[in-house]
Amino acid sequence: MSATKPQGLSSTLYKPNALATPSPIEVLVRARYPLLFVVTWEEERALNQLFTIAEALNKKLYNWTIVQGLARYRPGTDGNIEGRKGTKDPLVALREVVTMQEPAVYVFQDFHNFIMDSSVKRTLRDLATALRSSLSTVILLSPVLKIPDELEKDVTIVDFPLPGREELEHLVEQISHDIAQNPSLAVDMSAESREAIINAAVGLTLNEAENVFAKTLVTAQKLDASQAPNIYSEKKQIIRKSGLLEYIDVEETLQGVGGLDSLKSWIGRRRGAMDPKARAFGLPPPKGLLLVGVQGCGKSLAAKATANELKYPLLRMDVGRLFSKMVGETEFNIRRALMIAEAVAPVVLWIDEIEKGLSGVKSSGSSDAGTTSRVFGTIITWLQEKKSPVFVMATANDIEELPPEILRKGRFDEIFFVDLPSEPERRDIFAIHLGRRGRDPKTFDLDYLAKCSEGYSGAEIEQAIIEALFNAYGAKPDIETIDVVNAVKRQVPLSQTMRNSIHARRMWAIGRTVNASSSSDLVESLERVSSDDDGKEAMYLDYIRRARDVPESVRYEAERYLGGFPEKSADAEKMKIYLKDFSRLAEKIAHGQIPPAR
Ligand SMILES: Nc1ncnc2c1ncn2[C@@H]1O[C@H](COP(=O)(O)OP(=O)(O)OP(=O)(O)O)[C@@H](O)[C@H]1O
Ligand SMILES: [Mg+2]
Repeated sequence: MSATKPQGLSSTLYKPNALATPSPIEVLVRARYPLLFVVTWEEERALNQLFTIAEALNKKLYNWTIVQGLARYRPGTDGNIEGRKGTKDPLVALREVVTMQEPAVYVFQDFHNFIMDSSVKRTLRDLATALRSSLSTVILLSPVLKIPDELEKDVTIVDFPLPGREELEHLVEQISHDIAQNPSLAVDMSAESREAIINAAVGLTLNEAENVFAKTLVTAQKLDASQAPNIYSEKKQIIRKSGLLEYIDVEETLQGVGGLDSLKSWIGRRRGAMDPKARAFGLPPPKGLLLVGVQGCGKSLAAKATANELKYPLLRMDVGRLFSKMVGETEFNIRRALMIAEAVAPVVLWIDEIEKGLSGVKSSGSSDAGTTSRVFGTIITWLQEKKSPVFVMATANDIEELPPEILRKGRFDEIFFVDLPSEPERRDIFAIHLGRRGRDPKTFDLDYLAKCSEGYSGAEIEQAIIEALFNAYGAKPDIETIDVVNAVKRQVPLSQTMRNSIHARRMWAIGRTVNASSSSDLVESLERVSSDDDGKEAMYLDYIRRARDVPESVRYEAERYLGGFPEKSADAEKMKIYLKDFSRLAEKIAHGQIPPAR
């Protein structure tokens, strides 16, 4: 985006004064990490921050570029410095660092271009060893994360966070100061206006924010609360263009989702839980949910409606698109996306069909140099450790593809299984979609419709109504129950064509997930269709039932003695014995006749 800057607005970026809390880079420099890799597009901002850090630690700051060589960094001098003799050669420059004795920070810009060279790799490794006993740090600064395997143990990757509110606030102040002489431009510095402007801009880099503010000043001659919507929509565009995330405008509400009552009430209880007030009350910010289940049953719909219910903006992350062809870039992409989400928090981050991007994880070691598993590791670690109010709504269809790590406790608050709708839920869904198309649901026999559509998903119910409308259009005044029934009957639902895969999903879901709906019982519905010859499945379901019937602590104790239920491949006989043992043991434990297992 290139906005012509209005007169009086200098192009200097905000210069950070002493930073309030030590940044991750400062901590690592203090701790004498020899080699850091800082990933960012914001070169100038990073250099300025490093300059401040170096000054505070009484160190000099040097920077190296291929055209300048190695030279003392002085802020504001735009690259027309002549570096030390001969140091344009990256190898010479690295060796020079070893010989320079003074405590310093050396920043090598765009070093991803040279890092794959075998001499450079070797020199960097030697350098890492040499620097361990010195007071100097080498920082590789680049928008592209590229680290050869041999260097992985020597180099520490540091994310350079997007500017926080404080930094943006400084920028607004700076702009206000810069245009003070220009009577045709105005920046409203009232607390209210500043808050609105910054809320709208947060998530952008400093450069991007400056450009957006400049453009606003050019077009509106002012920067105040009334311009916040424009700034916000500029931000939406910038974020979308970066190809990682997209702001979605949501109209869907939870009332528009049929059934799924357990899920809805869970979300209802989390309302307000991301506010600072809840933090003060001692509540941790919720992490988020993983929705798995059958296609077309409302996972994506529920994810969108949740953002609306929680009253936060919705950012959608397309995992599939994150995987760019270039190894290294993908990891940067994901880090960047997560940083944007953190910067704009509180926000709902919707990761739709998370398994699509991660499906290579199991085999990734050989196929793509491990990028997929590293990216996945980044997401997992982030999910586990994030403290910011980013509520993650992840959805997945193909649970077989989900690596088991993602299901472990602490990643998501809950994993919900979204099954085919039960009869009362289908009634709801018919009512919702008839209503959405301007028909009064009361004039339809909803009970009958719900009965006729056993095994149909929400999406298929919606489709049947649309088809009935098409058929009636021009042929009769309006649709009636019978038209919808006929449309339903003409369809073959997925639950028939994909019977086995739905069955497998349900089997998988038991014990791993919570049912999103209280009106359907997974075990019951599985028992109805359970069909294997030697009765293994039936025994497994029997076991689930028995386990549900005893208190959790008893089940836990019994399983400590017996281990978990035998694997699918085990003998049917072994399962039979396990079942018997389980019941007997559970009873004894419940009566306190058995001491706790060690
Ligand atoms: N429970 C429901 N209540 C109301 N409408 C529903 C429901 N389930 C599905 N629909 C309708 O079907 C459409 C498709 O559903 P959605 O995209 O949410 O399914 P999904 O579970 O995400 O499927 P997929 O796994 O294929 O992505 C929705 O936009 C909605 O119109
Ligand atoms: Mg979906």
